[in-house]
This record gives sequence, C-alpha cells and structure tokens, in this order.
Amino acid sequence: MEDLLVSSWCKDRAVPETYIFPPEQRPGKLIDVPVGNNIPVVDLGVHDQTQIIQQIFEASQHFGFFQVINHGVPNHLMDDAMSVFKEFHAMSGKDKTIECSKDPNKSCSVYTGSQNYAKEKFHLWRDGLLHHCNPQEKYIQFWPEKPTRYREVVGLYTTEVRKLGFRILEFISQGLGISPGHFSSGLAENPRLLVNHYPPCPDPSLTLGQGKHRDPSIINILLQSEVYGLQVFKDEEWIGVKPIPYAFVVNIGYILQIISNGKLKGAEHRVVTNSNLARTTASFFINPLDETIIEPAKTLVDARNPALYRSLLYKNFIIKYVAASGNTQALEEALSSSTE
Ligand code: OGA
Ligand code: NI
Repeated sequence: MEDLLVSSWCKDRAVPETYIFPPEQRPGKLIDVPVGNNIPVVDLGVHDQTQIIQQIFEASQHFGFFQVINHGVPNHLMDDAMSVFKEFHAMSGKDKTIECSKDPNKSCSVYTGSQNYAKEKFHLWRDGLLHHCNPQEKYIQFWPEKPTRYREVVGLYTTEVRKLGFRILEFISQGLGISPGHFSSGLAENPRLLVNHYPPCPDPSLTLGQGKHRDPSIINILLQSEVYGLQVFKDEEWIGVKPIPYAFVVNIGYILQIISNGKLKGAEHRVVTNSNLARTTASFFINPLDETIIEPAKTLVDARNPALYRSLLYKNFIIKYVAASGNTQALEEALSSSTE
C-alpha cells in the first residue's frame, strides 16, 4: 500500500493512464469555474440567533453548503491541527503505514484513492488518513504517534470541532422545526476524521482529487487550507468554494437529507487538483452509529408530506451507498420509500 500512495511517487512520474478521467468527468481548465462568493458565509458570532438559524437553513436548502466564521474554534488550534496533518502526509509511506496499524480492528487507516483502490475505474489523486474520534479515550490509542504532537493537538481539535458540530446541528434542528434533542441519540455519536492530501499534479485538467459525490454523513465540517480545490455542483454547474482564512466549510450529507425528508440537500461536490501546490484538508464527518435507525424525522411526516425515504440502519445505508458507487439515481431508488 505504501508504494501506491500518490505522495510516494508523484514527484517522479507523469500522470499515469489509470489516473486520467474520461473527458466528460474531467475538470477542464480551472479558469472555467467561477470561484466566487457564491457559498453563503454565516457569522456565528452575532447575537441574533434567529438570523443565524435562518441563514443556515436557507443555505442548507439551496446549496447544501455554507462557510462559518467566528465559530469559536481558536485560530491557533486550527493552525496547529493543519500543521500536524501536513507533517503526517509528509512522512514516508512506510512510517504512515506503521502509524496507522495500531488497531487490529482498523479504526485508523491510511489509504489512497476511494478506499477501494482495487475496484475503482479511475484512481483519485488523493491520499487519506481516516480514524474514529469518539469516545476519545477508546480511540486515541490507535491514532498516529508520529508526528509527536498528533494525539495532543488532534485530541483538542476534534473535541472543539465536535462541539461546533453540535451547535450547528442545534441551529439546523430549529430551522427544520424538529426537537432539539433529535441528534443526541446515536445519530451524531460516531464522528470520523478524514485528513485528505492532494499532492501537486502535473496535469490537473485530467485528474480529480475526489470525484462527484455526496457525503454519507449527517454533516461535514471541513478545514480547508488556503489552497483552492473544492467545487460544488449547483444548478448543473460547478462553483468553486473560495478559501476564507479561519473559516470552516460545512456541508449537508445524505443522512441529513433523509432525516429532513428531502427539505435539506446533500450537495454533490468534488475536488480538483493543481499543479503547484499540495493541498491538505480535514473532514470531520458527523456520523451515526452502525445500529442507529436512519429515517425522516417523525414531525416532518404527515398525510400531506409522506416519508420520501424508508427506515434503515446506518450500516445498511452504507452498504447501499457503496453499492451505488456514486450513481445518485440508483441510490435514491434504493432508499426511496416507494421501492419497499
Ligand atoms: C470529503 C470532501 C473536500 C476537500 O472529504 O468528503 O469532500 O476539499 N473533501 O477535501
Ligand atoms: Ni465530501
């Protein structure tokens, strides 16, 4: 595995054939995509909570994406976390593998591509470090010990980001009109951290860091570095998400689309590469436990608003998500209440 990591070989080679996407999926020239102020920016520091709730709700309906500023996670902690994430991906492939082999149950892993390298049609220009976060006392012993500050810094970081996540879910619950405790019973108990690394690519017009996808989570709180690369698919067009210093990018995942009975959108997005700069990002996915039931909130369903999705356990959702392998329509059909 360590030799397959993109960061292990990309400096010495042109783009291999297996990394070249078919023309209709290629990102084309970066210049074709507007990097505007299109994604709403929500200031969590204002006093008017009603305004925050409304802004988040509207952004979640129309874009499935927003950025948050004045969110309470200290700047220095974001800087420290980004430093150790970059240090991790700068280590040798061998060291990365050793540092991610501490748990026989594989709650911490390093991989390349889509996590299913052997089966994917086109490889992604991305390496990933993925681990569980909660309960921290249970999982921290399996996190990397190198870089030496990893556990300390990431322990603090994930604790703070988790608190922010609960705050955002609270705002979302209020916007939807569902009970404030909705996310406290298993739905948000299993957060995972994914540290993505996209090395510079000799020809970014041919490759993708991540293909078009929706996250199989409730929400994702993304620490995006200063390097551009994330694009959102809205109204049949790609729009770029402009990096804002010390902001987090928040997006709605497929599970929240189900819970909200389709009111909120699990937005499709992808990641493009660039030729000059390595890009490192950290996704904090708020996920349910495997045995938690996923279904539209009862208060959003009545005779006039029938459930669009059927109930299923999170682990069964994941099986369907993986089986659909990026085909949105196939997944919608597999989850729809009318196919029961
Ligand atoms: C993800 C994701 C975006 C990025 O990890 O699912 O979409 O910019 N990441 O790395
Ligand atoms: Ni994503």
